[in-house]
Amino acid sequence: MFERSAPGKVILCGEHSVVYGYPAIAVPVGGLRARAQIEPAPGGLRLLAADLDEEFWLRDAPVEQPLAAIARLTLEQLDAVEPDAVLTVRSELPIAAGLGSGAAVSVAVARALAAFLGHELDAEAASALAYEVEKIHHGTPSGIDNTVIAWEQPVYFVKGATPEVFTIGAPFWLLIANSGIPSSTREAVRRVRQRQDAEPAVYAAYFARMGQLAYEARQTITGGDIRALGPLLDENHALLRQLGVSLPALERLVAAARAAGALGAKLTGGGMGGNVIALVRVERKAAVAEALRQAGAVQVWETLVENEHGTQINAGER
Ligand code: MEV
Repeated sequence: MFERSAPGKVILCGEHSVVYGYPAIAVPVGGLRARAQIEPAPGGLRLLAADLDEEFWLRDAPVEQPLAAIARLTLEQLDAVEPDAVLTVRSELPIAAGLGSGAAVSVAVARALAAFLGHELDAEAASALAYEVEKIHHGTPSGIDNTVIAWEQPVYFVKGATPEVFTIGAPFWLLIANSGIPSSTREAVRRVRQRQDAEPAVYAAYFARMGQLAYEARQTITGGDIRALGPLLDENHALLRQLGVSLPALERLVAAARAAGALGAKLTGGGMGGNVIALVRVERKAAVAEALRQAGAVQVWETLVENEHGTQINAGER
């Protein structure tokens, strides 16, 4: 039996603008994971999505079925034939909530299947495979989700460039609050693209400012000045609202977090549902979490963002 897992993620700054080539920052959420287990069983590869109560043979699955897609891509990459095995996936991550559930499942499945076949996939290989599945489901993904999830380190990400991890000067707490409203990244990205087609100059200015905020956030985090990060998150949220991807329910959560003492709060991921994040000092953590629940959050998680390695992911010139 082989088991591999992958974390969820949150975007701190720069969702949507990242699709247009501006920088963004994302961090893994190690406490919320997707897991894939694989063991020998006769008859070909059987895939089991335990949380969804779905079970099927790889040979019968349609091309766009996400588990089948990552399994086929992994076999192709390794030049391997379909093994006789059963692969079971379980995930603690809410689906369609902006926390990277799809990419986490892909990375866990690719790694488990590869391990069963005698290979270990490094972060770059796992990320590249997961990106192919992201393309099937999200149309024009930036690649930030598969990157941060496969590397499992905080990343400063620019589409098409070598991702970088950055040094976290002082660990900080984030609360992640689920609005319970499913969000379609594909739909949110489509909506933003339509609006930017109609008003390109206005949207170019929004995106440029969001990229600048990601850059400033990185400086702030590296310097350990967490208090200064709050207003950057707040401004990023205001811009996301301008893009049209917030909702009254998300506004309620953000306002409640700030009123209860969060240093900053914003929606995270595609928006139009999904989750908000709140930056909190440890002594306000419980009060802000309670305020988020009172304001309608169906789940609230906490995560400590810390620096694991603090070096560039890939050496080399940028
Ligand atoms: C990613 O989680 C959210 C978006 O930025 C889309 C993308 O980067 O592909 C909205």
